[in-house]
Amino acid sequence: MTVAAEKIALDVVSPENLLDPNPLYKHLLESEPVYWSDTLQAWFVTRHEDVAACFRDPRLSAERTQLVVEQQLRGVGTDKVRDYLHYASQQMLMKDGAEHSRLRRQTNPGFTTQALDGWRPMIHRVVDTLLDRVQDMGRMDLVLDFSEPLPSLIIMEFFDIPVAHREDFQIWANCIARFFGSPVEGMEEAALRANDAMRNLARYLGALAQERRKSPGRDILSMMIQAQAEGRMDEDQLVANAILILTAGHVTTIDQLSNGVHALLTHPEQLQKLRENPTLLMSAVEEVLRYAPAVPFMHRIAIEDLELRGRSIRRGQIVFLGIAAANRDPSVFPEPDRFDITRANNKHLSFAFGPHLCLGAGLARRELDLSFGALLRRMPGLRLDEERPPRIKCNSLVFRGFDALPVRW
Ligand code: HEM
Repeated sequence: MTVAAEKIALDVVSPENLLDPNPLYKHLLESEPVYWSDTLQAWFVTRHEDVAACFRDPRLSAERTQLVVEQQLRGVGTDKVRDYLHYASQQMLMKDGAEHSRLRRQTNPGFTTQALDGWRPMIHRVVDTLLDRVQDMGRMDLVLDFSEPLPSLIIMEFFDIPVAHREDFQIWANCIARFFGSPVEGMEEAALRANDAMRNLARYLGALAQERRKSPGRDILSMMIQAQAEGRMDEDQLVANAILILTAGHVTTIDQLSNGVHALLTHPEQLQKLRENPTLLMSAVEEVLRYAPAVPFMHRIAIEDLELRGRSIRRGQIVFLGIAAANRDPSVFPEPDRFDITRANNKHLSFAFGPHLCLGAGLARRELDLSFGALLRRMPGLRLDEERPPRIKCNSLVFRGFDALPVRW
């Protein structure tokens, strides 16, 4: 065993590793790039080349709902999460091959460059409204006052959902994300909440779809209904995939916004560079995504036995693909631990790779770009609040962000 291995407990969900996972990732990358965890009964793949290849490998299936839930609930049984399973298993995120492509094609038109550019003024408006509320206070909790409300306000505009329903929606989306994110404790309770949230969201969207059939608009749900009318999606698939689009960008974008602001504020020389040259914003967004990804791992299920770097992955086993670790693979990123907003050729895997490459990546990039730009422009003295330390969220393998990020200006 190497010195590093002796020092680092190889427990991916230990409190120390959840708080500061990079030393563990570095060790796995160097010494155990395909690692079996007895605790989690799952594989962990960490090298960039392997993670990218696994995302495209048809032997590693995205049809994981039932197995992941069974494993998460170890022995408790899945009958209490029937609604969750029913809808989650019909989402494109959980489908392979032709079925996945068919579902994805029907939602693609809502996420073209042209469609997304059309939403820029709306994103600007939402960002400015949130910052107007706190501008004169000189301080805020970035999570509570900005990152958390922003993605839901924006996605609700996409769906043309009344703003009065935002709080319900936020609670439902949080419950679903928490369970999907493999919580490290309170799994059964998380499952029950996710099940209720899925049922409530399905009911809400089912009713909304009825309205939109009578009076269609230019929103994404009307567009999906149009596809359904042409016989490509049935009612349950429509609702399941509307739920996915509403929720997939929720916790992810909240965490990525907070991670990005934290990375910028803890690297003052990079922040200064960005202030002096705002044309670096897009490149800063890519570096934030690489350096502090909101989704450190994503899972797949082996549907055939396969060999990877001399390790035998058996059919039926869960494989965690290490996005955050791969983003710091020195064979792809020179000086990978350096936060460098001018980094060229930034091939991070933060939106995954292959067929499931994040559908909302273009939207998320615009949200990050416009948010960082507005924060820097409107709050020139932006800094971490020296009296109130940030609190990192340590309850998931799949999502990483902050519970609180107090800032001042
Ligand atoms: C910074 C924010 C975001 C991050 C880090 C992120 C990350 C990811 C990742 C890693 C995947 C791949 C999952 C897998 O391979 O199993 C994914 C898929 C997906 N994301 Fe995102 N996402 C973000 C924002 C969004 C937004 C804003 C939306 C929608 C409005 C969205 C919608 C989706 C959908 C629908 C999929 C499934 C695509 C498919 O299965 O083909 N995401 N995302």
